[in-house]
Amino acid sequence: MKIFIAGATGRVGTLLTHDLLEDGHEIIAGARHPERVEENDRVTPVKFDLHESVEQMTEAIKGADVTYFTAGSGAKDILQVDAFGAVKLMQAAEKDGIKRFVMLSALFSLEPTKWRTVKGLDGLTDYNIAKFFADNYLIHDTDLDYTILQPTVMTDKPGTGKITVDEGKLGYNPAEDVARTLADILKYQNTSRKVIKMREGDTPIDDALSRV
Ligand SMILES: NC(=O)c1ccc[n+]([C@@H]2O[C@H](COP(=O)([O-])OP(=O)(O)OC[C@H]3O[C@@H](n4cnc5c(N)ncnc54)[C@H](OP(=O)(O)O)[C@@H]3O)[C@@H](O)[C@H]2O)c1
Repeated sequence: MKIFIAGATGRVGTLLTHDLLEDGHEIIAGARHPERVEENDRVTPVKFDLHESVEQMTEAIKGADVTYFTAGSGAKDILQVDAFGAVKLMQAAEKDGIKRFVMLSALFSLEPTKWRTVKGLDGLTDYNIAKFFADNYLIHDTDLDYTILQPTVMTDKPGTGKITVDEGKLGYNPAEDVARTLADILKYQNTSRKVIKMREGDTPIDDALSRV
C-alpha cells in the first residue's frame, strides 16, 4: 500500500517509516523539512506543515491508501498541531476518500477524570485536552476507518517486540515497540474503530493485536 505519514521525520515517524518499508509498503513522508527524510526508492518526501489548510493537505496526501498521524508539537504548539492540525488532516483524508486513519495518541486522552487522579499526568492537561479534541473528532465526527493507539511514556530503549494491551496503566514503552505496533495495526482488520492502550509487556505484538 501507499502510506502517508504526518511527522515522518520525528522519532516515531522515522521508526514507523522503516517498519512499513520492511513490510513492503511505499511511503509518502510528510515533513516540514522534506530534505531531512532519509533517501529510499520507496519513499516520496512531501512538504507538509500542520498549519496548512485542509486544501493544501488534500494535495499532500493524494494517492495514499492509509494516513498515519505521528506528529506532535512537544507541548509548544498544541492547539495548531496536536489538536486542529490533526483534525484538518482527518478532513483532508475524507476529502481524498482515504478511509484508513491511524492515530498516535496518548494514554487516557479520552478519560479526563484520570488527568487529575493518575500520578504523572499532572502538567500534561493542556496536551491531553488537545488529544481529547482530536481523538473525539476522529471517532464521532468522521466516517474514517480509524485506529487510535494510546501508548504510555516512550523510551529510547531497544524494542522487545512484546507489549501489554489492556485497560491501561501509566508506565513505559520503547518507541520502537510503539512504531512496530502502529505498523502491525494495518495487518489486523479487527483493530478498525478501536482505541488501543499499550505499554511494555510479555505478549508478542501480533498476538496482542489479533485479540483486541
Ligand atoms: N513522548 C512520549 O512519551 C509520548 C507518549 C505517548 C504519546 N506520545 C505522542 O507521540 C507523538 C510522537 O512522539 P515522538 O517522540 O515521535 O515526537 P517527535 O520526535 O517530537 O516528532 C514529532 C513530529 O511532529 C512534527 N511536527 C511538529 N510540528 C509540526 C507541524 N507544524 N507540522 C508538521 N509536523 C510537525 C515534527 O516535525 P520536525 O521533524 O520538522 O520537527 C516531528 O516530525 C508525540 O507528539 C505525542 O503526541 C508521546
